[in-house]
Amino acid sequence: MVMKRVLIANKSYPAAGLELLKKKVECLIVPHLDHEPESLQEIKKQIKGVDAVIWNVKHKFTKEILDIAGPNLKAISTMSTGLDHIDQDAVKAHGVLIGNTPNVLNNSVADIAIGVMIAAARRFKEGVADIESGEWKYGVNWTLGQDIAGSTVGIVGLGSIGQAIVRRLKGFDVARFLYTGRSDKPEAISLGAERVSLDELLKESDYVMLGCPFTAETKHLINKEALNKMKRSAVLVNYARGEIVDQEALYEALKEKRIFAAGLDVVTPEPLPKDHPLISLPNCFIVPHLGSATYATRNTMSTIAANNVLLALDGKPMQCPVNY
Ligand code: DGY
Repeated sequence: MVMKRVLIANKSYPAAGLELLKKKVECLIVPHLDHEPESLQEIKKQIKGVDAVIWNVKHKFTKEILDIAGPNLKAISTMSTGLDHIDQDAVKAHGVLIGNTPNVLNNSVADIAIGVMIAAARRFKEGVADIESGEWKYGVNWTLGQDIAGSTVGIVGLGSIGQAIVRRLKGFDVARFLYTGRSDKPEAISLGAERVSLDELLKESDYVMLGCPFTAETKHLINKEALNKMKRSAVLVNYARGEIVDQEALYEALKEKRIFAAGLDVVTPEPLPKDHPLISLPNCFIVPHLGSATYATRNTMSTIAANNVLLALDGKPMQCPVNY
């Protein structure tokens, strides 16, 4: 019997998923990391005629890629919750199944969101830079930041990661949790979070946490106008997608101290060029999309992605199908 062929679009795919796949299918592994210049070219070369694909988040899965893959393609699984890098309409039109890896990364992403929140609010970047340059000038007014206790935390998109953030922050004695989104979240009742308009959330919150998916509607949701509505003492945290923020407007707001600080796990583009203006700002704390980057989480994501494509190739429902 001819073995099915699965393309793995990134050479750093974790061993846990790879072992599962290797038992049942022939694996073609692209010998590059996502950001390497040859990566997309090599994907296009190897994808022709495969039965399934384990995709990454860096490259767009476009109609062009779908056409190159050809009619054998039955299923793709992304190793992410987010689906903004997949042209779902095109994939759907070709009858190809899509899977993703939601929920298993909630805890690790929530940890990183709170990590950058504290780092930005308490000015870690400036403190570390001062130590490294021998400028440790301890004094009662040096490197003062913002408290979390007693604050109002506003979550834009109270999905499962936002809920994990609220559960954690309850231990920080936050005074009020607000959220905004398209619909009421039943979970908000037990979490004690109140649904408000985006405007109200921006005006009232000491911490504005971005957790909504990136779509045509949320592109640059946080623009100059939105930033102007925030408190001067507010901290913006983004753990969703860089494109939700107008980065030029954010740069201006941070430089002019119209908001206090930003903590970002996601930016546009990724990787961010080292001379990007945001990097020069002392009040902008950026980490390189580390949300799901723990050993355990990435291993679990890889096994779900493997199961997704193996099940689909067997004609069974995926472990985490994207319903459309
Ligand atoms: C996701 O799951 O969408 C994450 O951002 C990928 O790391």
